[in-house]
Order: sequence, then structure tokens, then C-alpha cells
Amino acid sequence: MTTLTENAIEILRENDRGHYTVPTKGLYPFQWNWDSCLTALGQRHFDEARAWTEIETLFAHQWPCGMVPHIVFHKHDDGYFPGPDVWATGRPTPTSGITQPAVAGFALRRLYDRASDKVAAEARVQALLPKVAAWHRWFYATRDPGGEGLVAIIHPWEAGRDNSIDWDAPFERVPTDGITPYTRRDTQHADPAHRPTKEQYDRYLWLVEHFRGLGWDTAKLHDASPFQVVDPGFNAILIRACADLADLAEGLGMTDLAAENRKFAARGLAAMERLWSDAHGQYLCLDRVRGELIDSASVGGLLAAFCAVPPARAAAIAATIEAHGTRFRVASHPPADPRFDAKRYWRGPVWLVVNYMIADGLARAGQEDAAARITASSLDLIRESGFAEYYDPITGAPLGGGRFTWTAAMVLEFLAMEG
Ligand code: GLC
Repeated sequence: MTTLTENAIEILRENDRGHYTVPTKGLYPFQWNWDSCLTALGQRHFDEARAWTEIETLFAHQWPCGMVPHIVFHKHDDGYFPGPDVWATGRPTPTSGITQPAVAGFALRRLYDRASDKVAAEARVQALLPKVAAWHRWFYATRDPGGEGLVAIIHPWEAGRDNSIDWDAPFERVPTDGITPYTRRDTQHADPAHRPTKEQYDRYLWLVEHFRGLGWDTAKLHDASPFQVVDPGFNAILIRACADLADLAEGLGMTDLAAENRKFAARGLAAMERLWSDAHGQYLCLDRVRGELIDSASVGGLLAAFCAVPPARAAAIAATIEAHGTRFRVASHPPADPRFDAKRYWRGPVWLVVNYMIADGLARAGQEDAAARITASSLDLIRESGFAEYYDPITGAPLGGGRFTWTAAMVLEFLAMEG
């Protein structure tokens, strides 16, 4: 066992609350949706049973409509804003009212494929699969009302890349008037210069209060939202999850679920072409309210490599990453863009979870060298700067929260990928 492995396991254990894991102490004291699914991939390296529990706990809080919320507030904690009283979703265990990237289907497949206890894995996957399928169905029904094959996020937090430069323009159309006065907590745990701005926070809150005013009826929120962004990374994760779930379902004889998810994946993949930009060598976001592609090239369009994009697209994405030229890859926004901010959250820094999904997708598409460079760069970052939330792509400086759960989980996966 290397020290890196030991450190990663120690962090995962330290943030384990028994049946769910917090992203990090202080800054994020609850269960986050995509954090948990990716965390399970790390947990499987030392406790397979515990890894399944992580995802089961998340799905125990799925809404009757099929949505899986982005935060589950298991235990009261004053250290986070906006807490359950702001969301006021009325769930038995309080949750937020929006969702996050649908990486669960992919995580299930990976856990199942790599399980050493196949009997236990089969029982657990069989119980989870219909729930994940219900989530996918909910996505296409409520977030793709026009049947385009691609879903929209209605709040930046749904993308998991909160303050991405890509949606600056559509986000600026969200009003800030009339929101209840509030005190942020994130800036008490982390450097304000590394976090979203006050103006962005006002808009995040405006959307939450707007949706709350609609009684959290998820069938209504998409059309009622002034913010509807079709993000290539978000869609690629969902498409990959649908394809992975279809494979799993087929193997387990759940043929209807397999067929349904195959259809979602095929339609989604075909529709992704609409987001491709030759000029940028990557996919772009679409502002659905205006019906226009957004001329901004953040990491969401590179993360698209996570689903089965055509080989030429994967090759172009690999070249685009190379062209960034930063010491550490993959920057969440191209450094040559004047809006690039090396230290501010999703406007420049490197995030290991994104690296992992890009590397996995590129390797599957035959871009093994590019994938290996991302893996090596990710592990170099950890060796130099420890297990932070995110990193400056130029200097490698650790940023945001420390002793971070999903960073630790990804390290275990990257070490296994390196072999
Ligand atoms: C931040 C990230 C989001 C993540 C959460 C918990 O809000 O932007 O992607 O899920 O922290 O780690």
C-alpha cells in the first residue's frame, strides 16, 4: 500500500457518516448527489458493501416523481446556506428541490463490473436499477419537453459546475430583486476570492425562491425557469448512464428498462451533434430560452467525451486539452480566454472528478495517450498539493475545501487505472 492510497482511504473514512459520506467537513456537511456516486467508486477499493450503501442511501430519498435531489439534509447543521428551511421542499427527510448530474447509472455499472462479490452486487444492482431508470425517465419527461433528445438544467447548481463562465449571459438574465436577505456560509469556510460572487449568489437564491413559489412541482419548473441551459457535459453523463444502465438491465433480463434506456442514449447521442463546434474543437452549451449556442468553451464541452461521441470528436477534444498548455490538466476554462480565473471555482481550476470522466471517455474512444496524461497530471497534483477540492491549473495550488472526499475517491480510481 502506498501512502497516497492510505491517505485517500483515511479521508474517505473520516468523512463517512455511516450510511452516507459528506464531501468535506464544515463546508459541505450533508450528502451531495454526484459526489456520493463518485465516492462509491473510491469506497469499492476497500469496502464494496459500503460503496453500495452510499448509492442506496441517496436513492432512498428519491422523490415520487423520479427526481433525485442534489442535497439530502440528513442532520441539522447551521454551517451551510441555503439549508432546508430555504428550500422548504416538504420531504420527510429534507432535501433540496433541484437535481445534479446523473452519474449513478455509470457508477452502478462500474461497481457491478468490478465487484469481487458478484452475488451481493447482483442483488443490490437489481434493486437500484428501476430507481435509476425512473430518474432517467423523469429527466427526459420534464427537462426535454420538446423531445429534442437533450435535457436542460434550470439552475447552475444542477450542472455541478456552479459558476461556469458558459452560462454567464443566460444567468445574467435571472433577476435579483425581491430575494429574502441572507448570510452566506461558504465564504466563512473558504477564501471568498475562490468562490462565486455575491451577485451570482443572489441569482442562485432568486431561482430557488421562484421554484419554491411554484410548490416544487417538477413538471412545471422547466417552462417557468428563465434559465434553461443545455450543457454538453451534463447530457453526456446522462447519455453514458443510460447506455450503462441499458447494458446492466439487459444482463439481468430487465428487457423493458434496457430498451427504454438504449433509446434515450441513442437519441441523446445523435442530438449532441447540434452542440458541436469545429471552431472550438469541442461541444458548446445551448441557451434554450434563446435557442442559440453559447460561444464559450468551458470544460463541459470536453466532458462530453464521457459518452460515446464519434472518434473524430474525441480526437479533437484530446487536441483541445493539449492546446490549453497548462502545467496541470484539465483547466475548467481555457486559459487563453480573458475571462479565465485560475482560482475561482469552476472558472479555471482543475477538478479531479471531471478529469476522471474525461480520461475514462477518451480512453474508451482510443485516445489512450491523452487519457494517460490526464491521469498522471491528476496524481502529480495530489502528490504536490494534497487532497483539495480543486486546484490552480497553472501553479497547482490547492483551493477551496481540504481533505475532500471525491478527490480521495478519484485518487484510488486513478491509481487503479495506472495499474
Ligand atoms: C460544489 C460543487 C458541486 C459539488 C458540491 C459538493 O457545490 O460545485 O459540484 O457537488 O460542491 O462537493
